[in-house]
Amino acid sequence: MTKQFLCFLLLLSIPFLCESRFVVEKNSLSVTSPDSIKGAHDCAIGNFGIPQYGGSMAGTVVYPKENQKSCKEFSDFSISFKSQPGALPTFLLVDRGDCFFALKVWNAQKAGASAVLVADNVDEPLITMDTPEEDAASAKYIENITIPSALVTKGFGEKLKKAIGGGDMVNLNLDWREAVPHPDARVEYELWTNSNDECGVKCDMLMEFVKDFKGAAQILEKGGYTQFRPHYITWYCPHAFTLSRQCKSQCINKGRYCAPDPEQDFSSGYDGKDVVVENLRQLCVFKVANETGKPWVWWDYVTDFQIRCPMKEKKYNKECADSVVKSLGESL
Ligand SMILES: *[C@@H]1O[C@H](CO)[C@@H](O)[C@H](O)[C@H]1NC(C)=O
Ligand SMILES: *[C@@H]1O[C@H](CO)[C@@H](O)[C@H](O)[C@H]1NC(C)=O
Repeated sequence: MTKQFLCFLLLLSIPFLCESRFVVEKNSLSVTSPDSIKGAHDCAIGNFGIPQYGGSMAGTVVYPKENQKSCKEFSDFSISFKSQPGALPTFLLVDRGDCFFALKVWNAQKAGASAVLVADNVDEPLITMDTPEEDAASAKYIENITIPSALVTKGFGEKLKKAIGGGDMVNLNLDWREAVPHPDARVEYELWTNSNDECGVKCDMLMEFVKDFKGAAQILEKGGYTQFRPHYITWYCPHAFTLSRQCKSQCINKGRYCAPDPEQDFSSGYDGKDVVVENLRQLCVFKVANETGKPWVWWDYVTDFQIRCPMKEKKYNKECADSVVKSLGESL
């Protein structure tokens, strides 16, 4: 539990991280030529490699004459996909089956491909290509996969092969600009934080991060590009201990909301419950700021509070917090 307390996480709310159900992350793929298959098609981003979030990439699709499943090294067939200077990058189309997705992508990358499209071998809704679990041999190459990959449907794979087989030059764009969830055109993210400033290196890192990120966070929020939400971790005191000295000093509301004692010393300095109360105040500041349409004011409050009301100067209290609120004046 303490570990969670000490950690802070900036979670981009990527669906597969935050939700228990598994969401296939899709990006858009559009064929620019030939005309016969021009248009947008869905594909599912591989769960390894580096999708170019926020960007797009144009390339020419190549379907290898040999090693079509890309399970062997292309050098064994004297095949290379390195594009000539000035030419579009190669997007290698390979078939699903016989080996792990990640191995196919790794072999393609080594042969010079810039992206991989895996054509499904059964008619089904798109799935996310995942990495093999706990396989020591593959673990070594997976971390070196840098090219993006995507699964395409069997039907679309066949259309691509037909066009390539017919001598057409097949050009397409892979586009990741729509892959970050932003249902209302804003990216939503959550910041897990804590007002405790005396827990050592982790608290120092958290405070540094908040200070450094404030400028960018406020620009993004004011510009309507993001919608953020701060969270404060609390835990509760097990029922049997609600009357113990520890829980009395660390918790409010009969043990329902607790934070660890900042100095790990129940008899001196601030208590865990002081942290809970300040965390609550900061959440309240966010609520009010958000309701008045200025959520970014939260960043001003928390950074001012850090500077003006540190525990080591014995100013981590309501009076100091009130003075910070006052100085924000009109904006809150
Ligand atoms: C992965 O990259 C590292 C660092 O460049 C290298 O030392 C290692 O041999 C690579 N692994 C494989 C399997 O190529
Ligand atoms: C902040 O305000 C917006 C707009 O009023 C609302 O949609 C959103 O749910 C609020 N966020 C929180 C965490 O209350």
